[in-house]
Amino acid sequence: METRALKRDTGEHEKEPQDQSKHRAVFVREYKPADNAQVLSIFCDGLMEMIPDTAFRALRHHPESLLLYSAVTVAVYLATACWWVIVLAPAVVLCGRYIFSTHLTQRYLKCALSKDMGNIQQFYTKQPGFCFWVAVVEDKVVGTVAAVKEQKSDGVVILRRMAVDQDYRQRGIGVALGQKLLEFAVANKCSYVVLGTTAYTPAAHKLYQKLGFRCVGVTNGYVTPGFRLSLLERFFYRVSHHHYVLNLQNDDITDQ
Ligand SMILES: CC(C)(COP(=O)(O)OP(=O)(O)OC[C@H]1O[C@@H](n2cnc3c(N)ncnc32)[C@H](O)[C@@H]1OP(=O)(O)O)[C@@H](O)C(=O)NCCC(=O)NCCS
Repeated sequence: METRALKRDTGEHEKEPQDQSKHRAVFVREYKPADNAQVLSIFCDGLMEMIPDTAFRALRHHPESLLLYSAVTVAVYLATACWWVIVLAPAVVLCGRYIFSTHLTQRYLKCALSKDMGNIQQFYTKQPGFCFWVAVVEDKVVGTVAAVKEQKSDGVVILRRMAVDQDYRQRGIGVALGQKLLEFAVANKCSYVVLGTTAYTPAAHKLYQKLGFRCVGVTNGYVTPGFRLSLLERFFYRVSHHHYVLNLQNDDITDQ
């Protein structure tokens, strides 16, 4: 199968960054153990920066949560007849959301570090259909992406661990990493690339759409597989999970 984007990507993927102030080429290559510290730093930073998004930005995407907070506030006010309940409620909600977003993000991080991100070499480079790439600018690792072979269905690759160093964003590095993964999927005769994201910022969604992915569903109140949330965690932490799919046989992969 040939696509416009894949035709251009022969051998090592090189792309001139758009930021003319730096003029540094981006080079996407497979992970080496020496990259580990920089990879983990990008991964952790990418996760941590999602905390304020899930705590605050997400609120306007979840009117059901706002309704629940209002109902609980009114119920407590009626039960206690204390006017300051009304005044304090927004602060309590925001603090609670921040604390629980932080707690659950750290739990996810710990879980990832005990699985694939704790031994990238073992997890991603020893199994067919798996791979981990880094984007490099002048010997510095500035971005990551990983491919995981879907175990339940043949011909499906999952895109994971997409993150770019904050100082190197909006220069096409996310696209370069995504295209590397698409080349890999084509070379492995895969029909679909899938991914899921709980990101609320437009960057991730725009990137995936630019790569040719289509959003095929949204799970409201998503819980990471393997996680169980307490009542309080469910009260303060509610996220949407967007499912994206790219059909490599039919979809028109974007040209860069
Ligand atoms: C999402 C992320 C990987 C994008 O990386 P990037 O290298 O900045 O992406 P690119 O420069 O290749 O941009 C690709 C497209 O995304 C869009 N985009 C990127 N950053 C954007 C932003 N801050 N606001 C709006 N659109 C943005 C642009 O439309 C761009 O297309 P363009 O070239 O036509 O402008 C990066 O922002 C990141 O690491 N975020 C934190 C971690 C994260 O959210 N990962 C994804 C979790 S699933």
